[in-house]
Formats: sequence, C-alpha cells, structure tokens
Amino acid sequence: MDLPTTVTVYEVGARDGFQNLARFIPTATKVDFIDALSDAGLPAVEVTSFVSPKWVPQLSDAHEVMSRIHRLDGIRYPVLVPNEIGLDNALRAGVEEIALFTAASETFNRRNINATIAESVELFRSVARRARQRGLRIRGYVSTAFGCPYQGDVRIEDVVRVVDELFELGCMEVSVGDTIGVADPAQVGELIDRLGRRFDLSAIALHLHDTYGRGLANVLAGLQGGVTIFDSSAGGLGGCPYARGASGNLATEDLVAMLHRLDIHTGVDLERLIQASVQLSETIGLSLPSRALAALRARRRRVPVTPMRPVPPTAA
Ligand code: HMG
Ligand code: MG
Repeated sequence: MDLPTTVTVYEVGARDGFQNLARFIPTATKVDFIDALSDAGLPAVEVTSFVSPKWVPQLSDAHEVMSRIHRLDGIRYPVLVPNEIGLDNALRAGVEEIALFTAASETFNRRNINATIAESVELFRSVARRARQRGLRIRGYVSTAFGCPYQGDVRIEDVVRVVDELFELGCMEVSVGDTIGVADPAQVGELIDRLGRRFDLSAIALHLHDTYGRGLANVLAGLQGGVTIFDSSAGGLGGCPYARGASGNLATEDLVAMLHRLDIHTGVDLERLIQASVQLSETIGLSLPSRALAALRARRRRVPVTPMRPVPPTAA
C-alpha cells in the first residue's frame, strides 16, 4: 500500500469530547487532562471553545483552562472561536491559534451557530483579518461534510465551496468533518479525490466519528487518498450537542495504534496517552469507548482469559 510515512494527530477530546458531557467537569480535571495529552506527545491539542456559555455551559471556563494549562514548545493549542466576542476572549487568554467553524449543510449550521453558512463566512471575515493581524494561526472546520442529521445527503460541491471560502479567509488548514459518523470509505475516497484536485491535501484534515464503526476504515481511505492530518479524541470522548446520534469521535488510541501498526510515524507515546485517558475516566467516572484503550489496558493488567469448555451434547 502506498501510504504516508508521517501523520499529524490533532487531538480534540478536551473540546469536542467535553462539550458533550452534561455534568460539569471541574476546571482542574480539564487542565490535568490537557497537560497529560501534551506530555503524551500529541502535536496539536485543542483546548476549549470561546463560545457562548449559554450554548455550551461545559466550556464556560475557557479562559481559566487556557490560562492554567502548561504549554509545551512545538505543540499547537487551538481553541474554537465563533465570532468577534470569542476572538476578544481568546486573545485575552493568550491563544496563538483559533479554529473557525461552519458547515456544509444549512440546517445544521443554523442550529449550531444560529447563522446561515454565508452569514457565518461573512462574520468570519473580520474575525480572520484581526486574528491574522495579531499573528494567530487559523484552522477552519466544515461540519456535516458527509451527511447532515437534519437534511440527509450533502453535495460534494457544497463541501468544496465552503473549504474554498475558509482557505480564502486565510485558514492554514481545513478540517472536513463527518459530524454524525455516516461516511463510508468510498465516500471518503471520492471527497478527498475532489478536494485534492483543487487544494493542497497537506492542508486538509479529516475529522471522523465512529458512530457506525467505520472510523478506521475511513482513516485508511483518507491515507490512501493522501490525507496526513486526522482529528481524534482521547478515549473516543465526544459526539456533537447539535447532532443527535453522533456518538464518539474516532478514538485517538484506535487511530494511533493502527498508524503505528502500519509503520506510520506520529510522535505520540501510546502508553502515556492511555494513562491520560485512564486517569480521566477514573476521575470523572466515565467509561470510554476506545477499543485499543480497552485491549491495551487488559493486556497490561494481564486479565486472565477464560478457558473454553466443550459444550455438552444436547439431547436429541
Ligand atoms: P446567538 O445567541 O445567535 O448570539 O449565538 P448573539 O450574538 O445573539 O449573543 C447571545 C448572547 O451570547 C449575548 O449575551 C452575547 O454577548 C453572548 P447576552 O446579551 O444574552 O447576555 N455571546 C458570547 N459569549 C461568550 N462568548 C462568545 C459569545 N458570542 C455571543 N463567543 C453563537 C451565536 C455563535 C454565540 C452561539 O450559537 C454559540 O456559541 N454556538 C456554539 C456552538 C458550539 O460550540 N458547537 C459545537 C462546536 S462545532 C462542532 O462540534 C463540530 C466540529 O467538531 C466538527 C465536526 O464534528 O464535524 C467542529
Ligand atoms: Mg466532532
């Protein structure tokens, strides 16, 4: 197989994962988790969102989290910003990278940020200009790129148009999201092929969810198409508050375990990543869906395998 030799794993657990939890996670727990993810060698750790606390109460401590984490050299710590207020607050917290987010489907965007796609892009124009003037890096997100919970199918042309608009705004990287986890490998291959004809694929990220268990199959399709940036969340934390049925994001442990098995370099220390997820899971009392996390934890604990017993013949 012709696959890339190095992949960037972009960690979204502390933002995309936490935003879905109803019970408020204490700020100190969030900070410890983010620091542990940095220590595990993840090259990009999305920290939080500077969004309205009325819309996403879980991330109402964005300023405090951003100020308290221990930032390591060479690691990106982006935050989501929906508008000018968000940018002001992010600047006050000393962020160096923001992520602007819109969608490929109108209904989803309306429910997510209360704006049409065109309105959101228009609103981002001044946010992006100001961010660039302040020397910030900008990432873009296109949600519902493979399907929408309200509208169903999404046209590839609509995805390409929004990706184009985000690059026009000055985004250095655009992440296309399977927000509800409905994509299949053929669809991923087709979208990447179309994006690759127009954009440099080294600036395109895939943001996959594992709702139907197709996350890793879709990663492989992305790798084969030439994508080298993948979003994922530690332990598989996540979903989307405005996308019912969107179960976990692709788990970082599953992604990293597969990439390493394929001899693809990530720079991530899988053992330390597992420790970060286990620590979080025990602190907040939440079981995490990652398959690799469960398998590697069991191996570490040397969980005994129950011997098979012959099944007694049933009476005829
Ligand atoms: P709105 O209600 O239309 O905004 O919300 P507004 O301008 O009318 O403001 C309403 C109130 O919020 C005002 O306060 C503003 O000051 C305040 P009030 O006068 O009522 O006291 N406000 C803010 N406060 C703090 N920070 C701000 C801010 N903006 C306004 N930035 C808005 C519009 C965009 C603010 C709202 O819809 C919002 O915050 N939405 C966030 C939604 C969100 O975070 N969704 C999840 C992230 S997207 C995602 O998960 C998908 C992704 O992972 C990719 C994938 O999975 O595919 C990226
Ligand atoms: Mg997501």
